[in-house]
Amino acid sequence: MLHIRNILYYFLAIGTLAHTHELQYGPPPALEQPLGLAEVDLGSSPLFSLHRDLVNIESISNNEHKVGVFLESYLKDHNYTVERQYIDFLESRKDNTRFNILAYRGSKRQTPVLLTSHIDTVPPFYPYKIHEKDDIWGRGSVDAKGCVATQFVAVQELLASKSISPNDVSLLFVVGEETGGEGMRAVNDLGMKWDTVIFGEPTELELASGHKGLLIFEVIAHGKAGHSGYPWLGKSANHILVPALAALQGLELPSSEKYGNSTLNIGSINGGVAANVIAETAVAKIGIRIAAGDSNDVKELVLEAIKKADKDIEVIFYGGSYGPVDIDHDVEGFKTITVNYGTDIPNLEGKHKRYLFGPGTVLVAHSDHEHLRAGDLVSAVEGYKKLVKAALKS
Ligand SMILES: *[C@@H]1O[C@H](CO)[C@@H](O)[C@H](O)[C@H]1NC(C)=O
Ligand SMILES: *[C@@H]1O[C@H](CO)[C@@H](O)[C@H](O)[C@H]1NC(C)=O
Repeated sequence: MLHIRNILYYFLAIGTLAHTHELQYGPPPALEQPLGLAEVDLGSSPLFSLHRDLVNIESISNNEHKVGVFLESYLKDHNYTVERQYIDFLESRKDNTRFNILAYRGSKRQTPVLLTSHIDTVPPFYPYKIHEKDDIWGRGSVDAKGCVATQFVAVQELLASKSISPNDVSLLFVVGEETGGEGMRAVNDLGMKWDTVIFGEPTELELASGHKGLLIFEVIAHGKAGHSGYPWLGKSANHILVPALAALQGLELPSSEKYGNSTLNIGSINGGVAANVIAETAVAKIGIRIAAGDSNDVKELVLEAIKKADKDIEVIFYGGSYGPVDIDHDVEGFKTITVNYGTDIPNLEGKHKRYLFGPGTVLVAHSDHEHLRAGDLVSAVEGYKKLVKAALKS
């Protein structure tokens, strides 16, 4: 424990993480020990202070302006060239525009390797807080500001140690990952291509070998309103919807050895207006995490089940559905993991190699107790450095 503290004090004191290689990569024994973050001056560690500053700026999807401005100026202060890519630019909200950030230290914007993550978070906002000396809490501390901070520090350290040249790697931080990936999809318009793209999302410091696919849709039942005492005068949309949803719950969805079972979530149901009125409309919003095959196959299963249930019912599929996404995981020294959440990976077109890696666990992301261990940020920097070096070698 003393040993670990000494290391931490050392790099905090000199303001660089260059000597943290003594902390082994992986879930090292070091992580069982508190780093004693609460007792030290975070301001003298670029990693922990950047992470803190990012978490403390509320950036719920659609409100990424402030964090974008902060990150842009932070990167410029570190001699990066920074480009904004506006998403849905509206003259009327000029002071609150959302933009992706592309940053590079060299003379070329087109680099062989790209490190990328997202700067938006889900609601609500929780500020940064250190608990029990070693746990960092706050919205985005895991998803995905832990990735943003550690990707930046990894590049800084690789440049400082001359392990890479400035034209090798660039950074891309996008908006709107949590709301369907409109930020990353816009990147396809930049006309750029990379050999390797390293995506940052919480993977518990393991290398993700794939993630489930996703299909999101609404089921809308159309009825006819009337007095509930005379049900034959109308047709209840609620009474149409309920058996249709039961049919969906009974569906046999595809499964695979790698991803397990597909899962269905009826996330919201709205229908009718009062107990004594026959419901005119009813709507359910549903998401399916797909474990095998194509999203079109699952669409067919859904349509078949719904059609059997009633004729006065329609299904609207949201755009951007996809089957399971296999991810490269051929770098030695990492454990591998599959995850059940979606990422921006399918939103970025191109033939690049792709990796998915980051600190923290999705099991607390999006919750009111989102947090990670401080030591995981240190390990993530090492992990990204390793991935970048492996990518440049191949
Ligand atoms: C940025 O570049 C200037 C001029 O080369 C240099 O003096 C300064 O130290 C650099 N700043 C950082 C943070 O690297
Ligand atoms: C998948 O579903 C089947 C049937 O419901 C169940 O027996 C099995 O344990 C599930 N597998 C996983 C990995 O959850």
